Amino acid sequence: MKPLSKRVTEIQPSMTVEIDALAKRLSTEGRSIWSLGVGEPNFDTPVHIKEAAIRAVNKGLTRYTAPSGMQSFKEAVSEKLLKENQLAYAPEQIIATSGAKHAVFNAISAIVGKGDEVLIPAPYWGTYPELIRYCGGVPVILECGVEDNFRLKAQQISKAITEKTKAVILNNPCNPTGVVHNRKELESFAKVIVENDLYCIADEIYEHFVYTKESSISIATFPDMQERTVLINGFSKAYCMTGWRIGYLAAPKDLAMEIVKMQGQTTHHPSNISQYGAIAALGGSLVSVTVMRQEFSERMYRMCEVLESIENVNFPKPEGAFYLFVDISAYYGKKTDGGAQISNSIEFCKALLDEQGVVIVPGVAFGVDSCVRFSFTASLPTISVAMPKFRDFIEGMR
Ligand SMILES: Cc1ncc(COP(=O)(O)O)c(C=O)c1O
Repeated sequence: MKPLSKRVTEIQPSMTVEIDALAKRLSTEGRSIWSLGVGEPNFDTPVHIKEAAIRAVNKGLTRYTAPSGMQSFKEAVSEKLLKENQLAYAPEQIIATSGAKHAVFNAISAIVGKGDEVLIPAPYWGTYPELIRYCGGVPVILECGVEDNFRLKAQQISKAITEKTKAVILNNPCNPTGVVHNRKELESFAKVIVENDLYCIADEIYEHFVYTKESSISIATFPDMQERTVLINGFSKAYCMTGWRIGYLAAPKDLAMEIVKMQGQTTHHPSNISQYGAIAALGGSLVSVTVMRQEFSERMYRMCEVLESIENVNFPKPEGAFYLFVDISAYYGKKTDGGAQISNSIEFCKALLDEQGVVIVPGVAFGVDSCVRFSFTASLPTISVAMPKFRDFIEGMR
């Protein structure tokens, strides 16, 4: 057989997706597994959202619509962006996508061509560099260390810019670090982006998950940014709609038109049923999100308490999203209680799963091998079993 396309064969699988599948498989095989791996809220989709989708099905609203999504969906998103983010977008600048991941794919496909460089702060969500490479581009990593609490500095952006730089990806609040860049920081990033005529792909899917007094601000709100930003958001996290596969992007008109053209030839629009659910989500109150945020804040507190009691693990307290990104590299070079030699984050997570049944994600999946990621979307009972097991595992290392 002739070889398949390099573009496809060279793409790396998503490690978080693989780890989640492994945890589910082990669990069905009868092993006791405590998963702090996946970033999926353990709450159900709110009832009013489910009912809106069921009504749509029962009314037969199940036909093709425009590739960019239903007009009522785009109007609802446009209203949301104005009300919550102080950003004025016409409905034709909005495109419904099959999740935020699909919106990221669309944005990168539309902006990045062969040899184009895209700046990505690390730790990063693992999908970004893979999609950039898939489109023939070159991911350029801006390393943010634990010593700087994983915060990006504007100088890192300006120093990395070359003639080939096309765009910067900014995920704020950030998966996996929980960093929420503040107004001053965002302003300094925006200034460099505008001065260098770059695009910005702004992934704001965790905007409602902020645990400090300040709320998250969209980078598109800074002067001259909206015209060069593809704003990305979705319903998976805030409305517990991971399986509904519904998200959106908002972009300058000409860029949006190109993406609509591409979407019309590929996926067409995301399911109408999910769009009806999403309209109900935006039209309803944010009470369920507030309840979830309070619960996550409690879970984070419990996890931090255990982590702080362990020697030589290092992490900044998350300000947002629902992850803890923890430097455990002081334990590399040691052996576990079960006899496994640990020299990197994959070996660490594998041994932790083998010996304690606890699932976390290796930092290498986010470009930083010295760390591991914990998700606090699991229930408190799971957390209260898993965290002491993690401590036992670490304390058993010699
Ligand atoms: C930073 C970031 N962007 C996008 C997504 C994808 O979300 P969706 O389920 O809407 O595709 C995720 C999911 O984990 C994420 O962490």
